[in-house]
Amino acid sequence: MGVVASAPAKVILFGEHFVVYGEPAIVLAIDRRAYATAEERSDGKTCFHSTELGLEGYYEGDSFKVKQGDAKEAKIRFEPARMAVDKIKQKAGKTTGLNIEINSTVPVGAGLGSSAAVVASVTAAVGTLLNLNISKEEIFRISLEAEKIVHGTPSGIDPAISTFGGTLVYQTGTGFRPLQVKSDIPLVIGDTGVERSTRRQVEKVKDFVDRYPRITEPIMRAANEIVNQATEALVSSDLPTLGELMNLNHALLYGLTVSDESLEWLINAARKSGALGAKLTGAGGGGCMIALTTNEKLRHVADAIQRAGGKPFEAKKTDEGVRIERK
Ligand code: PMV
Repeated sequence: MGVVASAPAKVILFGEHFVVYGEPAIVLAIDRRAYATAEERSDGKTCFHSTELGLEGYYEGDSFKVKQGDAKEAKIRFEPARMAVDKIKQKAGKTTGLNIEINSTVPVGAGLGSSAAVVASVTAAVGTLLNLNISKEEIFRISLEAEKIVHGTPSGIDPAISTFGGTLVYQTGTGFRPLQVKSDIPLVIGDTGVERSTRRQVEKVKDFVDRYPRITEPIMRAANEIVNQATEALVSSDLPTLGELMNLNHALLYGLTVSDESLEWLINAARKSGALGAKLTGAGGGGCMIALTTNEKLRHVADAIQRAGGKPFEAKKTDEGVRIERK
């Protein structure tokens, strides 16, 4: 029983890294979701259980106790959701105990926004359980606050896309602008399985930008123009152009040294097997790549990525952000 809510994962289609320097990025919600079930319990404990991570623990006041898995990891993973739950309880003026069960179909730590999807779904489930009429704007604000604990100064892309869904253009200073994209965007996501640190990749780019300003400046301008033309291609459902622009975007990222061998294998395999375009997504240096295909070629491209050593899964754009599945 209890209230079930869900929220989508994301891929960055264009503009990762350049977004750190004020250029726009395009982000897409995908049909992989995190699910949270919330129910009240008679004591004051807030208990979390994540099936996929094999972690369970509870908060009693400020102290955290682990019941399954590594205590340190469990605390790190559950802390943002706990922050969100505390905010909701405060808002509702309640001190009730809660059981929160997390089930997710989003790979963790692969740059697909798994943590933001979990926080948005937990916030919506607990808000509904405690009879708060909580708006999407509030869910976004609370999720962003919670993300700050994990990421320091996140751009806000992940909580925004998990809350609102669809396709968003994001730029520091300007914020988010939804794009009306009518057609399917059939993607194959290839997980290299290689762990990467976003912070390290961002530092690598900064080093390049500092040492080669007159070379990286025109690269930034090119990245900006790629996003402008990709916006037009998305709105007019021009998938072949979108694929070419993905290849161009990847070439720029490769130049900034954020691709690696594991990504190149999968990207080349996808292109050879008939993808319209392929690029790394997110921070690079491992993590995931994306390939744009036609619906007919999805399976074929996924097989090629698997043969090249990646873990493929098919994904489509979803317009649905956070939602209540069951009350
Ligand atoms: O792989 P992710 O989801 O951590 O994406 C990082 C995106 C960057 O542009 C590289 C960094 C950022 O803060 O925008």
